[in-house]
Amino acid sequence: MKVTITRSCTVQPDGPCFNGSMPLTESDQTGILTHVPTIYFYKPHSQNWLTTKHTIFTTLQTSLAKALAHFYPLAGRLRWLDGARLELDCNSSGAHLIEADSDATFSDLGDFTPSPDFVHLVPRINYSLPIEEIPLLAMQVTNFRCRGVTLGYSVSHAVVDGQSALHFISEWANLARGAPLGASPSLDRRLLRAGDPPSEARSRFEHPQFDPPPFLVGRSNNKEEREKETVVSMLKLSRSQVQLLKTEANRGTARAYTRYEAIAGHIWRSACRARGHAPEQPTALGICVDVRGRVRPPLPPKFFGNAIIDVIARGRSGELADRPLGYAAGKIREAIDGVTSEYVHSVIDFLKNLDDFSRLQDIHALRTEGGSFYGNPNIGVVSWMCLPLHGLDFGWGKEFFMAPGSHDCDGDSLILPACGGDAGDLLVALCLQVECMEDFKKFFYQEI
Ligand code: COA
Repeated sequence: MKVTITRSCTVQPDGPCFNGSMPLTESDQTGILTHVPTIYFYKPHSQNWLTTKHTIFTTLQTSLAKALAHFYPLAGRLRWLDGARLELDCNSSGAHLIEADSDATFSDLGDFTPSPDFVHLVPRINYSLPIEEIPLLAMQVTNFRCRGVTLGYSVSHAVVDGQSALHFISEWANLARGAPLGASPSLDRRLLRAGDPPSEARSRFEHPQFDPPPFLVGRSNNKEEREKETVVSMLKLSRSQVQLLKTEANRGTARAYTRYEAIAGHIWRSACRARGHAPEQPTALGICVDVRGRVRPPLPPKFFGNAIIDVIARGRSGELADRPLGYAAGKIREAIDGVTSEYVHSVIDFLKNLDDFSRLQDIHALRTEGGSFYGNPNIGVVSWMCLPLHGLDFGWGKEFFMAPGSHDCDGDSLILPACGGDAGDLLVALCLQVECMEDFKKFFYQEI
């Protein structure tokens, strides 16, 4: 697919907003600091395509300026401090808006499973630039030959998590349609910052998520696994298949496992089987937990930033694969249940107490040597199940499909609601090594 950029501009906040430094939380500054891409697919109705194309771009441009006045951190830039710490410079430098034409039609994209072509539909971020020059938000409108349009939304994970990214884009869409702002963001990040000095009293907690995850038995690094070719699949789960997995996981449990616990457990044990692990192979499953409602007092619902922490469930491949699904689900629940308010603060204090936490920061472009790796023998299962992902209407109708923009590291997986279809249908977007994917699908579907 050929995609040609036809115009681009920098959009600054339209209206007065704070200028100055904004401290970031420890959670903002660790983990993935690059941009997270998502793509929305539209079929605008139009009599005059040229006018429609022009209107789409100008509507996005003027409404983005208005939206940035409320969400001004996204118009700023990151800045390094000592010891690999970062802060946010709210300097209204602006966000990037790009327009491009594609020679393809939507039918060329098949069933919209993320493919290497998708990289052309999201703004290309140049990570070789100094961090102070990299925009935190970029949007690319791509016009297809079939008069379909995609919006490729890339937003810095150092500034927002999934909830906040979706809050911003849904308010941007409101303003684009001429509707008022629904809910202002709560911009005070101090609510999740460490005490000064950070508490030592919480050190009774363990933080294994910051240790390197297990390697394959007999190996001393994951170099070989990182280099293997990967493929992405979008695996559908109907509402009834989801129910079946829940029933299977819940055999003999007093407190019912949730859909996430059951499905993530099923993905984990299917991956252990498909990868052909030895029974004694240690394996970890990474879980991203939203802590807005877990800390005491709870954060404001529209807390704008990263209110997530990662935790891991650990096991051995043989026991996970051989025991009933409830065993894997139980390990996942145990990890999630551990995320109490005290634990969240212990993580923040642990990170604050580190002299240099650069080893915990992934500032690498995707698929490079650096950064964390949750590939073979491990896996990451992120839930987008309860995020308000769908129904993004900027004035030319709601999207008919949305997908993660790139998603090409072994072991990355997302569970998200399916577009259209029955309410309750889900999709698992999963990236695995090519050599394991077919076996994974076999194990994934054979019991449901
Ligand atoms: N709307 C509808 N139902 C909701 C809901 C919402 N906003 N929030 C929770 N629920 C339901 C869930 O669907 C679940 O019931 P189920 O068995 O039918 O699925 C139940 O309430 C419990 O949900 P939750 O407490 O969220 O547990 P979980 O096991 O489903 O998920 C986590 C566990 C850790 C994945 C989840 O709590 C979480 O933090 N998700 C956010 C992940 C995130 O932020 N992703 C983006 C990363 S940038």
